[in-house]
Amino acid sequence: MSQGKFITLEGIDGAGKSTHLSFIAERLRAKGRQVVVTREPGGTPLGEMLRDLVLSQKMHVETETLIMFASRREHIDKVIVPALEKGIWVLSDRFTDATFAYQGGGRGIAPDRLQALENWVQSGLQPDLTLLFDVPLEISRERLSHNMSLDRFEQEKQDFFARVRAAYLDRATVHPQRIRVINGSRSIAEIQAELAPLLEKLA
Ligand code: TMP
Repeated sequence: MSQGKFITLEGIDGAGKSTHLSFIAERLRAKGRQVVVTREPGGTPLGEMLRDLVLSQKMHVETETLIMFASRREHIDKVIVPALEKGIWVLSDRFTDATFAYQGGGRGIAPDRLQALENWVQSGLQPDLTLLFDVPLEISRERLSHNMSLDRFEQEKQDFFARVRAAYLDRATVHPQRIRVINGSRSIAEIQAELAPLLEKLA
């Protein structure tokens, strides 16, 4: 049996990735793939508890970083690797690029420290494809303004999101084979028209 494929969705808050998650899962299922839809932080019972903590409690930025990786360790062990080994595809709403963007770019943790944690926790596991939904800050702000209860990250200021966005785009430059930047400012139909052939190729 062949291994499943691992797809991750990334982008600043308000970039619209969640809107496209179910479309992507449906396209893959229509091609006969079994798909697990999951997320980070979270994706396991313990990971979801860690998510609640990290999104709501003030903490040292290194604590925040370690919680992201603690949640990821569980997620890899309990969900991602077992699914991939069974030939099931994994579609994750965020993964390690988010840590490089938010804790690295946003909070200023040095990339080599994040790299050391990544090497430790992932043992070489990388997504087969990462879709990076990119939007200007004004669009992200406008979308978040409709949300009544913003979490700790969503409440951050424009300059934080500017650094997160820049760090994401840097990652895409460094990993062009894996990371595909999707212009998230367009209509849903236009974005889906770009996603469909990409998924076709992979499936
Ligand atoms: P979500 O709102 O897209 O589910 O993500 C929750 C928040 O967690 C989002 O603001 C980004 C943040 N986050 C990090 O800061 N670092 C990480 O490694 C991950 C996975 C998410």
